[in-house]
Amino acid sequence: MAWNPEQYTLFSDHRLRPAMDLLSQVPLNSPSVIYDLGCGTGNVTALLSQHWNEAIITGIDSSKEMLAKARKDHPSIEWKLDDISQFSPTSKGNLLFSNAALHWLDDHETLFPTLLKQLRAGGVLAVQMPNNFSAPSHQNLYDLALSPEWVDRLGPLVRPAPVHNIDWYFDLLSPLVEKINIWETTYFQILKGKDAVLEWTRGTALRPFLAALDETESKLFESQYAEMLMESYPVGQDDATLYPFSRLFIVVQTPEE
Ligand SMILES: C[S@@+](CC[C@H](N)C(=O)[O-])C[C@H]1O[C@@H](n2cnc3c(N)ncnc32)[C@H](O)[C@@H]1O
Repeated sequence: MAWNPEQYTLFSDHRLRPAMDLLSQVPLNSPSVIYDLGCGTGNVTALLSQHWNEAIITGIDSSKEMLAKARKDHPSIEWKLDDISQFSPTSKGNLLFSNAALHWLDDHETLFPTLLKQLRAGGVLAVQMPNNFSAPSHQNLYDLALSPEWVDRLGPLVRPAPVHNIDWYFDLLSPLVEKINIWETTYFQILKGKDAVLEWTRGTALRPFLAALDETESKLFESQYAEMLMESYPVGQDDATLYPFSRLFIVVQTPEE
């Protein structure tokens, strides 16, 4: 299932804002080794690199397409094709940063403690994940995939919500770390243009479903989904659509030795 870097970066302002909010809460002055997990096209990695220009920064991603754009746009940064679930660097990090990526991985009960082990003493894991799986943009998609017309093909692709609630992460992580800072924010995003929410999900949640269909089926599925979205997110004045989007943030620091 390929990612489409151009589609993903269509809303780069809205997608960058939570990364900057996350960055503002990292309690480190000069981390020397930083990994950006699920770096995608590298826009956020470049921000980290500007913020800490002395650090050794590596962007990690499992998508060749996203990494190709990252390499082209930011040739001075190091990029590595790798699966986050297998992440085990030879040089442990002072900072593991992950913006909008860990919700693509299952089993957070194993994943988060494993990531903490890849940190040096006093290191920080900083994570932002969408937490909008019950929003109409996603529920419409799942309802359609589970409808009689599509369930045989697309039903198996509907995942249980991968992100847990804040209390769950607090209970999991607080015994393992020295400091914990977790919060949730809903961004009331104003998207411009026709089928704006569809354009948004085309870059993310819709991708696995379209990848399982041929071109004709994809067009049909998309048009049915677009109709549902139009009802859920009516277009307002000046072609503007209000698309509320909740995101969960976790910043934890391991004990100093
Ligand atoms: C929504 S994009 C976010 C990209 C970037 N962090 C940003 O904020 O612009 C999610 C990225 O996570 C990557 N990803 C998903 N699952 C992954 C995995 N298991 N290992 C490595 N990367 C993964 C995808 O390839 C994609 O580039």
